[in-house]
Amino acid sequence: METSRFTLPLLLLATSFLLPLSAQMTGNFKCGSPGDSNTTCRSLVGYSTKNATTYASIQTLFAVENLRSILEANNLPLSTTGAQRVNPNQVVRVPIPCTCSNGTGVSTDVPVYTVKQGDTLSAIASELFGGLVRFPRISEMNKIPNANDIVIGQRVWIPLPCSCDKVNGRDVVHYAHVVKSGSSLGAIAAQFGTDNGTLATLNGISGDAQLLADNPLDVPLRACSSYVRNNSLDASSMLLPNGSYSITANNCIRCSQIMMVFGFCVFVISLSCEASQLRPTTWPTCPATRCPGAESLFLGNTTSTSCGPRSCAYAGYSNQTILTTLSPDPCSGSDGSTPSGNYASTFSPRFSFMVVLIQCALFCVCLL
Ligand SMILES: *[C@@H]1O[C@H](CO)[C@@H](O)[C@H](O)[C@H]1NC(C)=O
Ligand SMILES: *[C@@H]1O[C@H](CO)[C@@H](O)[C@H](O)[C@H]1NC(C)=O
Ligand SMILES: *[C@@H]1O[C@H](CO)[C@@H](O)[C@H](O)[C@H]1NC(C)=O
Ligand SMILES: *[C@@H]1O[C@H](CO)[C@@H](O)[C@H](O)[C@H]1NC(C)=O
Ligand SMILES: *[C@@H]1O[C@H](CO)[C@@H](O)[C@H](O)[C@H]1NC(C)=O
Ligand SMILES: *[C@@H]1O[C@H](CO)[C@@H](O)[C@H](O)[C@H]1NC(C)=O
Ligand SMILES: *[C@@H]1O[C@H](CO)[C@@H](O)[C@H](O)[C@H]1NC(C)=O
Ligand SMILES: *[C@@H]1O[C@H](CO)[C@@H](O)[C@H](O)[C@H]1NC(C)=O
Repeated sequence: METSRFTLPLLLLATSFLLPLSAQMTGNFKCGSPGDSNTTCRSLVGYSTKNATTYASIQTLFAVENLRSILEANNLPLSTTGAQRVNPNQVVRVPIPCTCSNGTGVSTDVPVYTVKQGDTLSAIASELFGGLVRFPRISEMNKIPNANDIVIGQRVWIPLPCSCDKVNGRDVVHYAHVVKSGSSLGAIAAQFGTDNGTLATLNGISGDAQLLADNPLDVPLRACSSYVRNNSLDASSMLLPNGSYSITANNCIRCSQIMMVFGFCVFVISLSCEASQLRPTTWPTCPATRCPGAESLFLGNTTSTSCGPRSCAYAGYSNQTILTTLSPDPCSGSDGSTPSGNYASTFSPRFSFMVVLIQCALFCVCLL
């Protein structure tokens, strides 16, 4: 009797323990399919540590080329110095180069950490790199047969998880979010403007039971590239998530994500670019950027039409010029969506623009 009373609960306990394990977060992010040729992009990781640190230390730890890209990713003022303190457990977004290879995304050859006295791979993974990677993954990718067998001065590549995949057909910036204990997919989704189902599918788990604290979760941040042409020199770096900005075109232009509200009904996420008022890096001066076909409109100017604003938008830059384009008149009908091939052929601008058209149509109908 005693045994049978305990067998069923024990069995249940065992299965409920085993089933989730088989589908738990792996710490690896899907990226392309096995057999695809490698693709690359920029990705983000959310770094925090128990000790106070500085932006300069984070820059060094992650081998980020310039401090400015960390400031841009965190919406910090350009006046922020590397010596500025980062508090314990404060999360800093760090941009990393990503390569998708054989179905998985990893940071391209960086960061490389030099082993110091007293280090263990486990502490390097969970403490120094804030749980962004698991230590067995470090041994695997560095072909270290025994994780205890590392020597002072040894250089170890830290393969951070990342991805370049579109999500639900849209351009996104992938963000490695270290899950806090007690968190849920719904709470994480709300924090980053996505939904729990998307997070579950993307990470190959079925619900909160498979969420592992202190491990990285792939979070897609909605991003827009707006009107930047695909042959612009900054085309690859202009996919910006909310809460970030980018200084581009020889320092002359500053772009960030904004919500535009037209009348009562419409809001749309778009990339807004304007003159940065900074000193250009290689050009003698920043060129005045008038819009072709609307000489009174300069870059960043917006004019109101009966149905919504038209604006002079940044379209990228080349060796010698800053390109602009006049955003189409929302009331001009479907033809307005393809004005003179001036648009980067990515999905998101078309999508945002379609939203403008549809919503504007509704708005106009409301007025009538
Ligand atoms: C793809 O990436 C993997 C791992 O980073 C590398 O070993 C391989 O050589 C790359 N393949 C190509 C074609 O670049
Ligand atoms: C690619 O991934 C498949 C399974 O996803 C694996 O069997 C294969 O060994 C991998 N190939 C390389 C070169 O890593
Ligand atoms: C945090 O600070 C403590 C005390 O100074 C030190 O022992 C520990 O190694 C530090 N941890 C990291 C990850 O730097
Ligand atoms: C997402 O949240 C809804 C509502 O809370 C819930 O019914 C659903 O099961 C959740 N889905 C996943 C995959 O967690
Ligand atoms: C965008 O970021 C700002 C602050 O950085 C935040 O207040 C706002 O809620 C975010 N919007 C979305 C849609 O995530
Ligand atoms: C248009 O932009 C230019 C240059 O940025 C600025 O000087 C001018 O005041 C703006 N005009 C309007 C109407 O906003
Ligand atoms: C940029 O323009 C200069 C002057 O016209 C030219 O000499 C140079 O080759 C160009 N560079 C590129 C990368 O096109
Ligand atoms: C760039 O955009 C043009 C015009 O939209 C398009 O014809 C071309 O195929 C695009 N090139 C790439 C590499 O996406």
